[in-house]
Amino acid sequence: MIRILHLTDPHLFADAEGSLRGLATQASLQRVLDHYQADDWHADRVVITGDLIQDDSAEAYDRFRELLLPLNMRMHCVPGNHDVRKLMRRVCCAPPFSYCAYEEIGDWLLIGLDSCITAKAGGLLTKEELDRLSDTVAHSKAKHVMVCLHHPPVAMGSAWLDTVGLENGDEFLQRAQSLGRVRLAVFGHVHQPYDATHHGVRIVATPSTCRQFLTGSDDFAVDDRPPAYRRITLKSDGSSDTELIWLDDD
Ligand SMILES: [Fe+2]
Repeated sequence: MIRILHLTDPHLFADAEGSLRGLATQASLQRVLDHYQADDWHADRVVITGDLIQDDSAEAYDRFRELLLPLNMRMHCVPGNHDVRKLMRRVCCAPPFSYCAYEEIGDWLLIGLDSCITAKAGGLLTKEELDRLSDTVAHSKAKHVMVCLHHPPVAMGSAWLDTVGLENGDEFLQRAQSLGRVRLAVFGHVHQPYDATHHGVRIVATPSTCRQFLTGSDDFAVDDRPPAYRRITLKSDGSSDTELIWLDDD
């Protein structure tokens, strides 16, 4: 059994007081981390699926590093459309962080994919990135695979959001299915929960550690739901349990 803490879309700023649509993102992420650490559910790994920062600054990545380091465990990061790859790599290629990396843990292979297109909100998995997934799985003895990416591989039923999803989501899911061992794909970007099975792969979105988007809205709209994170348990039979944790006012 492997336990994964899924955090996504913290949207940090160089300014510690920086806020996204009225919510201070550093304080919000800190609340999430404090909530995780106060409980006796302990993760083996952290997965962070993009939009680490909001303001294109190196200082925001330094802030991310300082906030996450106390968790004291390996953290798998992938970029989101708000990230700046060059700046993100500077922080996320150094242990305990890793950037679009893979790791075998027990029966499972974890792999992070880069689904971003420079200067665009929507995403795409390039042929190189899909082939990297195939090659990594082919060279692994792990029985089960969990993929981490930023963009949603399926439509969310929200017109504005579905114009900035993963352009080749279907191609990704078909590739994942053809590999025969991909059981789970986790993503961010949508700032709302999602959990369904497509092409035999369970695909799961976790809401942001800051502001959420209104589910099912055809126009952009902010939701008033609180910050959130997800606990994921990977089991040796290839199934997974997840628990979505909302930080209700307390
Ligand atoms: Fe985001």
